Amino acid sequence: MEKIISLCKRRGFVFPTSEIYGGISGFYDFGPLGVEMKNNIKRIWWKNIVQERDDVVGLDSSIIKNSAVWKASGHTERFFDLLTECRKCHKRFRYDKLKDKEKCPECGGTLGRPRRFNLMLKTFVGPVEDESALTYLRPETAQGIFVNFKNILESQRKKLPFGIAQIGKSFRNEITPRNFLFRTREFEQMELEYFVKPGEDERFFDYWVKERMRWYIEDLGIKKENLRIRVHEKEELSHYAKSCVDIEYRFPFGWGEIEGIANRTDYDLRQHQNASGRDLKYLDEKERRSYLPYVIEPSSGVERIFLALLCDAYQEIRGGRTKTTESKKEIEQLLKLDKKIAPVKLAVLPLVRNKTDLVEKARKVYQMLLPHFACQYDETGSIGRRYRRQDEIGTPFCLTIDFESLENDDLTVRQRDTMEQERVKIKELVGYLKEKLEE
Ligand code: GAP
Repeated sequence: MEKIISLCKRRGFVFPTSEIYGGISGFYDFGPLGVEMKNNIKRIWWKNIVQERDDVVGLDSSIIKNSAVWKASGHTERFFDLLTECRKCHKRFRYDKLKDKEKCPECGGTLGRPRRFNLMLKTFVGPVEDESALTYLRPETAQGIFVNFKNILESQRKKLPFGIAQIGKSFRNEITPRNFLFRTREFEQMELEYFVKPGEDERFFDYWVKERMRWYIEDLGIKKENLRIRVHEKEELSHYAKSCVDIEYRFPFGWGEIEGIANRTDYDLRQHQNASGRDLKYLDEKERRSYLPYVIEPSSGVERIFLALLCDAYQEIRGGRTKTTESKKEIEQLLKLDKKIAPVKLAVLPLVRNKTDLVEKARKVYQMLLPHFACQYDETGSIGRRYRRQDEIGTPFCLTIDFESLENDDLTVRQRDTMEQERVKIKELVGYLKEKLEE
């Protein structure tokens, strides 16, 4: 993990937030490469869940809502962790995560009585900071979907089963943020609320568990052996869930949830219907009756998927893969990211930088590719070093302009994983690369 964290910072994937002031625990900034990679994950999810399906529509609801939403959803009352404090060193811990519930894991002191700690971050809307202005930063995006259920039903004329999907920031005042991006206080969720006829919920629950597993393996390219499904015990179910399974990834620090798939029954719609007094039922024209649909919810976190992808792709090669490695003792770092996930798709490299016509040609190729692909131009250092710099950030293809290029109007395309090189005519390059990146 330490090596991945340091690679992330050194190459501009992830920085600790407000670092020059000492940072703040549980918050991170995504650098130039991180934001590209995060956008790729979100784009692939949105395409698969919303654009390629005719039974799902999208939504982008506000982070701040009327506080009545959180009362009705149960979050004000029941969205808490048990917190305990060491009487000796005063460190605080999540009670449920402690192996020994009596002694402090840091100093061996006695732990105090556990107390409830609500995880929602508070804020005030408007100039007066009183109870009436109090509200929260959303701890899940899902509630924005439930309170818009009727709006979407009426404006989109959808028939069951159908889903509403959303990607957006969520906030939780986690007691112990840890493991880099795994548990943070600000993160992005990708959530689908899939509404079904009561009685059909278990069938759709099974369908979504299988479909989501497939997505991680086939669409994101995560290794099958690093994924598993864990069924929740009754005691650990959230207040709204009838059943839940987690899709877990084998992180360097152990198995951890990247997505939860829950059967939320009609809990949320019923709560909002009761609290708001609005009829949120669905009119089933075939059966000529109205009812509240059940909900199956696949809910994932962008940062956890991001971290899983980095861990899955990270490789170290002792002594290096290329003859040009300066020292045999050096360790080459390689990110074998899926082409769809890689933040930079191509790098354009002139073989040397002291030949004006060669550099000019390379720059022209770079300008030609810019509108089509996320690409970089690099002319500093030996060619071997530049290949390694690109391997380290997972760039699938390096394009090298050499002396032959000046005569033949072509270049070499080097593949990241096999290091195979192929000569391609510059006029055929865009089509060739588009095809390769689609493969
Ligand atoms: N709407 C259901 C829901 O929010 P959850 O299991 O609490 O369920 C869903 O969260 C996903 O959100 C998790 O699988 C995880 O990927 C992500 N997530 C939750 N808390 C997180 C945190 N503190 N830091 C990063 N990601 C988090």
